[in-house]
Amino acid sequence: MTFVPYDRPVRAAFVGLGRIYDLNVRGYIDNPDVEVVALVDPNEERRAQRQADWPGAATFASAAELAASGLQVDTVEVLLPIVLHADAVAELLDFGWHVNLQKPMCNSLAEAQRMLDAATANDRILRVMDNYLFYEPLHRLKAVAESGDIGNVVGYHMKMVGTGNGGWDVPWSSFEWQIDQMKRGRGIMVFDDGWHKLTTAIWLFGPIREVRAWIGNLAVGPGIDLETPATLMWEHENGIRGVWDITIAMDMYLRSDYYTNDERWEITGSKGFARVNRCTGRGIQQPSLEIYADGEMRSYHALDDDWGSSFRDSGRYWLRWLHAGDGPLLWSGQEAVDVLRFALAAYESSAKGGIGVDPALLT
Ligand SMILES: NC(=O)c1ccc[n+]([C@@H]2O[C@H](COP(=O)([O-])OP(=O)(O)OC[C@H]3O[C@@H](n4cnc5c(N)ncnc54)[C@H](O)[C@@H]3O)[C@@H](O)[C@H]2O)c1
Repeated sequence: MTFVPYDRPVRAAFVGLGRIYDLNVRGYIDNPDVEVVALVDPNEERRAQRQADWPGAATFASAAELAASGLQVDTVEVLLPIVLHADAVAELLDFGWHVNLQKPMCNSLAEAQRMLDAATANDRILRVMDNYLFYEPLHRLKAVAESGDIGNVVGYHMKMVGTGNGGWDVPWSSFEWQIDQMKRGRGIMVFDDGWHKLTTAIWLFGPIREVRAWIGNLAVGPGIDLETPATLMWEHENGIRGVWDITIAMDMYLRSDYYTNDERWEITGSKGFARVNRCTGRGIQQPSLEIYADGEMRSYHALDDDWGSSFRDSGRYWLRWLHAGDGPLLWSGQEAVDVLRFALAAYESSAKGGIGVDPALLT
């Protein structure tokens, strides 16, 4: 890879202007590192709606039309339904543009390889963004785990509860393609939203050597199958074990500015613990990070624990990265493949009765 950093603002296009654009755009607003030159979506209404944010940007119904227009673009922010990721990303890389792709990367290892090959063939960067890696309480959690303040890490768990009430509106069109994903065995809990949890696990404690899972099914409507209750367990190569439990509390109201997802991370150390109390929603309205050690509890009351800020910071990091070109991408295409392997290992384990699966051995 012979990446040449830019010495000017990068020219960017958004491809996909749906629900999550509302948060991804935060990295681009008032950012001198970028000039938004184009907006792409087949939906005319969406184009008109988003044009208000970027009156100077040209709009197109497809990326092919943008490429044919001759407008100069350096990088694209890809916010498409998952099933389109592989074809679209390969096409965009072929146009000679760097790609910042929303998670999950794609549905299969073959699709992932196609995308990595396209990046290599075109000498372009493929980043798979994960905003959770930019959520300040999780950053602090990682720092605490590495600092020794709670002793040696002896294990950790994550919890995720999807609730039926509260949060922002999600248009039916944004949900429709998720239902297709469910039919492909890539559900919204373990695969789509779960991708973040699996990413944080690898980011916190490194490569995974074994995964065991018991993934249930809750049918909430025709063709709408939620992968709960689910329990995933794994062991990192360094011997640390993690557990993640997923449930649905259908009638629970959860205060949230975004999706109704109540989440926690808790790391146990040999002399204390550190816990992130919430992320997407505002379930536990206590300090978002608490650290206990040596008989004392430290509570963090002033972190930027608005989940939306993690999108802003992830986007800014990427647009700055294009000027520097070194340091971790948070997250590279290859690292995203490790997350995909983690998810696929969980599905395989569950299908086989919960046996241990080494993600590296999946083909
Ligand atoms: N990081 C997160 O927490 C988070 C949260 C929600 C969604 N996502 C991810 O973001 C992506 C988009 O999700 P969403 O909820 O915004 O979906 P959405 O359905 O609301 O938006 C997708 C948009 O893509 C457009 N589109 C479809 N085909 C297109 C094409 N060929 N070219 C250009 N545009 C096209 C649609 O018209 C729509 O406006 C998915 O990968 C999803 O998993 C991530």
